[in-house]
Amino acid sequence: MSDDDAVDESKTDSGSDSDPNAGSGSDASPDERDTGPDRHDEISKQDEFSRVVAAVRDRVDPDEAERERLQEVANRLATRAADAATDRCPDADVIRVGSTARDTWISGDRDIDIFVRFPPELDRETLEEYGLGVGHVTLPEGHEEYAEHPYVTGTVDEFDIDVVPCFRLESATEIRSAVDRTPFHTQYLEHRLDDALAADVRVAKQFLKGIGAYGSDLRTRGFSGYLTELLICEYGGFRPLLAAAADWQPPVELDPEDHGRETFADPLIVIDPTDPERNVAAVCSPENVARLQHYAREFIDAPTLAFFEADDPDPLTETELCEHLTARQTTPIAVRFDAPDLVADQLYPQLRKSRDGITQGLDDRGFDVFRTTTFADETAAVFGELEVAERPAVERHDGPPVHVRAHAEGFYETYADDPDAYGPFIDGDRYVTEREREFTSAQAFLESERLFDVGLGAHVETELESGYEVLVGDEVTALLGEFGRELRAYFEPEP
Ligand code: UTP
Ligand code: MN
Repeated sequence: MSDDDAVDESKTDSGSDSDPNAGSGSDASPDERDTGPDRHDEISKQDEFSRVVAAVRDRVDPDEAERERLQEVANRLATRAADAATDRCPDADVIRVGSTARDTWISGDRDIDIFVRFPPELDRETLEEYGLGVGHVTLPEGHEEYAEHPYVTGTVDEFDIDVVPCFRLESATEIRSAVDRTPFHTQYLEHRLDDALAADVRVAKQFLKGIGAYGSDLRTRGFSGYLTELLICEYGGFRPLLAAAADWQPPVELDPEDHGRETFADPLIVIDPTDPERNVAAVCSPENVARLQHYAREFIDAPTLAFFEADDPDPLTETELCEHLTARQTTPIAVRFDAPDLVADQLYPQLRKSRDGITQGLDDRGFDVFRTTTFADETAAVFGELEVAERPAVERHDGPPVHVRAHAEGFYETYADDPDAYGPFIDGDRYVTEREREFTSAQAFLESERLFDVGLGAHVETELESGYEVLVGDEVTALLGEFGRELRAYFEPEP
């Protein structure tokens, strides 16, 4: 979020008797409290909430001209796709899905999803062949991409169009791939969403974008469009959604169609109305659930437009970075390598796995990890700070209690003959030795072959094998050029 609060002050007169100098209700003077300030506060906050939502709607609601342009292109292409589909298979049909088919898209968003449904008797190979054929006729300039099966994507009049083949099934529980489920979402929501709810979906999406929690991609692990729509339907609008989220006690379970109990180990569980076996919120991370709770409280308490604007921080400067390092007295470290050539949905899980593995490898060796993150662009890095970056040459090694005879004797004999080990001696009822530590610095560990013993993402491991760089202390300033924004986010953390 930016802290630019753009609500026009001229629109904020509530026609009330409040002190014109009071910036917000919370700093009302004691005199005003005598005249029932709590209620007054509550009302002015609700007014402010409505004013901010109205201002957001000015920005996110597509106007008539934009809607017409989209409808014109969508209808034209859907007709073209339907003709091409029935040419190949008389029983095929075409359906529009996604937010632009449900009036829940945000002005400026430009994706039109056209699904071509084929009868389930068709074998998969023919489905793919027909699907691509229809795609190329519909989008002559388009190109093929591959999700669960191949589809054609292209741009027409500034709109991004996908033409996706799927099977037409009786119920979403019979699906053979995730795309087969999508038409059911649209059918379900068509019956649930009215204009007012659709408008609140657009506002909620913009709020989630503003706080960085929108999108079910595996980089964000946030709220998908469909999930947002279900939440708005369940709670009955944007304001009730925020009010509920502010008080959520995870795990939160919603089951709009009363499918009954399936157990999911997620903080937010929204049973898919079209498929009882699926949690629509499965990818939503605990952080993003907590993030929505935090900002819901903040926004209800002091509504401003800033919540709806994503942060775009300036890169951290070298001076600022050095100031943080001096102030914190941690040891910053980075393992930097060429970013594997993967789509974001594959890259970020691999980076996180590698980050976790490296953290474990450091912790296991006594290099206490304070906080870590991952960066990716042309290069990628596991970055973090250590509380302990160096350890002495010896480490303590506890043996078994002396009275556990067989084990104790084995331990004693092993170390008694080791010229480099101190002891064994007895501490309490145990044998103990002090032996040479394998790595006395985190850097030495990170630069060693033992780094490859930790759990790493497969493609990250391959990249590391072809070379990587370890940066320690002030050397991390080398990251500023590529990751200045990410470093600001790291050193100025926010919810
Ligand atoms: P989109 O990602 O385009 O989402 O997927 P959306 O609902 O249109 O939202 P915005 O406004 O573009 O952000 C299109 C449809 O594909 C299905 C959903 O039915 C969605 O509405 N879908 C998408 C899923 O089932 N799962 C996903 O992870 C993504
Ligand atoms: Mn969409």
